[in-house]
Amino acid sequence: MVNDFSLFPVPKIIFGNGKRSELSAVVKTFGNNLLILTGKDSFMKTRYAEELLDDLHRNHITFKTDHIDHEPSPEIVDGLVNKYSGSSIQVIVAVGGGSTIDAGKAVSAMLPLGEPVKEYLEGVGTKIHPGIKLPFIAMPTTAGTGSETTNNAVLSEIGTDGFKRSLRHAHFIPDVALVDPELTISCSQKQTAISGMDAFTQLLESFFSARNNNLTDAIALEGIIHVKKALKTAVFNGNDPEARAGMSYAAMLSGITLTNAGLGLVHGFASSIGGLKTIPHGVVCGTLMGVVNRYTVERLLKAGSGSTALQKYIRLGKLLSEADGRSDVDYAFLVANYIESLVEELKIPVFSDYGLKEPEIIKIAQTTDHKNHPVMFTWQELAEMIRKRL
Ligand SMILES: [Fe+2]
Repeated sequence: MVNDFSLFPVPKIIFGNGKRSELSAVVKTFGNNLLILTGKDSFMKTRYAEELLDDLHRNHITFKTDHIDHEPSPEIVDGLVNKYSGSSIQVIVAVGGGSTIDAGKAVSAMLPLGEPVKEYLEGVGTKIHPGIKLPFIAMPTTAGTGSETTNNAVLSEIGTDGFKRSLRHAHFIPDVALVDPELTISCSQKQTAISGMDAFTQLLESFFSARNNNLTDAIALEGIIHVKKALKTAVFNGNDPEARAGMSYAAMLSGITLTNAGLGLVHGFASSIGGLKTIPHGVVCGTLMGVVNRYTVERLLKAGSGSTALQKYIRLGKLLSEADGRSDVDYAFLVANYIESLVEELKIPVFSDYGLKEPEIIKIAQTTDHKNHPVMFTWQELAEMIRKRL
């Protein structure tokens, strides 16, 4: 049965190894005055940076370059907006991980307004963004957040009154996602693992989301199949172009599914933890994914066998385990088993590695939003889940 649905547009997607060579042509469709944002220095140190900047010169594109040091805060975005307002920038390209793309997306949205971005953040500010922005091209150098296909930019301010919240509008979906998997080859083993777990979580959470539809399910399953095929190889044999392409593809799909179906409890935790502690987003996702899915299956089983979510767990357990002749209950738990052994193999850190303490656990548990998770837990159960990953 096909239920009613609507779908946000996807950016123009240009996907494939070597496609970075098309950047100049893409930029020229929007203008000749470009701002390039990169991560701290990672991309600029690669051979690709020189090649790319030479090509822009050859094509008579004027550009300025700047960089983002950390996960973007409202202060960083406001700083960049002040710096470049009045400089006639016509198009922005962000080349980097999710933080860089989110920062670029926010700068492209705030340059026409020239106001503090905090006033427009969900759950923080009170103003509604009109959706006007400068043309924005996203070129991911990691395979994780899928920000190249999402309608939001996540900004955080860390501390006791901290937050990790989105600047969101349908118009903020990048104009072009230029996805060249070769750009992810320089990613370290650790970065590849945690980014990959973020993409995996996003695909899984949108698959189980209460806001899903037939199309988001199909896209999420396609992404999950590629995570299964490619993630371990991308981590342990980072030069494998096929595995890198598989993960870039999965991450890009996760952006489409999360924009349309939303996310679940793991990302609820990522918001509450991300506003309080500096722990990489992919670590929070990877480390909590197993326990959250195990508790979810237990809760669904207690409620009876008829739920759609439980049927989907059984289906996914079959797909991930490739095991024959198991009971439905076994298959449902095989999803959490698969995730837990993957987390073990990829050596995803635990919370004590970041000094998370008991009073913080309570605060996190009491402020975590379930988002579109298929079942609800008490805050005490949420605290238990975190303690299992201390
Ligand atoms: Fe995420």
